[in-house]
Amino acid sequence: MPKLEIIARQSAHPRGALGHIVARVMALDTARVNRRVLTHIEPKPGERILELGCGHGRTLQAVAERVAPDGLAVGIDPSEVMCGVARHRNRAGIATGAVRVSPGYSDHVPEDNASFDKVFSVHTLYFWPDLSRGLREIRRILKEGGELWLAFHSSEDAVVAAKLPSSVYCLRSADEVTQALVAAGFVEATAPVDAETGVVIAHGRVPSCR
Ligand SMILES: C[S@@+](CC[C@H](N)C(=O)[O-])C[C@H]1O[C@@H](n2cnc3c(N)ncnc32)[C@H](O)[C@@H]1O
Repeated sequence: MPKLEIIARQSAHPRGALGHIVARVMALDTARVNRRVLTHIEPKPGERILELGCGHGRTLQAVAERVAPDGLAVGIDPSEVMCGVARHRNRAGIATGAVRVSPGYSDHVPEDNASFDKVFSVHTLYFWPDLSRGLREIRRILKEGGELWLAFHSSEDAVVAAKLPSSVYCLRSADEVTQALVAAGFVEATAPVDAETGVVIAHGRVPSCR
């Protein structure tokens, strides 16, 4: 298997000893986009916020600090290695009940209906087995008026598309994601390219009256 494909597969599902190295590199690699997404989310004290595909748990930790003292930050990831790394990084928050990290993925988020104010996911969309299903699952766990942000490289970014193996990465266009958000019942759906980072930061809101 080519080296690039091995790294891509590890990004999609970090495993074993190499997965731990990938977790460290990923935390640095995606830091800028995650910081940018946080400026959109604006976590506030008392909010319940879920990160889908939390990976290393670094952004989750930043969210937990901002929703304190009575909010909740929940991280979901299908990779056992990533859940372990995120739990270790957030051990203080987990001990006080301010953070939870659980296995799960876009098709199945093990949380109650209408239980979160905000959901976000950074660089995971490429690996979702089913875009519509994932968006419906997120809508299910969001409260009325709740918001979702998805940050991803778009298929229209030719430079990035040429670097990512299509055998692992399913790139989508901003339009495709906007339409899928609307079809899943989100309103105010937008998917602009963020000028600072070059990634798309899509946003949708659950209507206040379902
Ligand atoms: C490139 S990493 C990004 C991690 C983190 N969000 C960040 O910005 O650094 C992709 C993460 O998505 C997770 N993932 C893969 N498939 C997923 C899915 N279907 N739903 C949610 N997360 C998924 C992987 O386990 C991995 O931790």
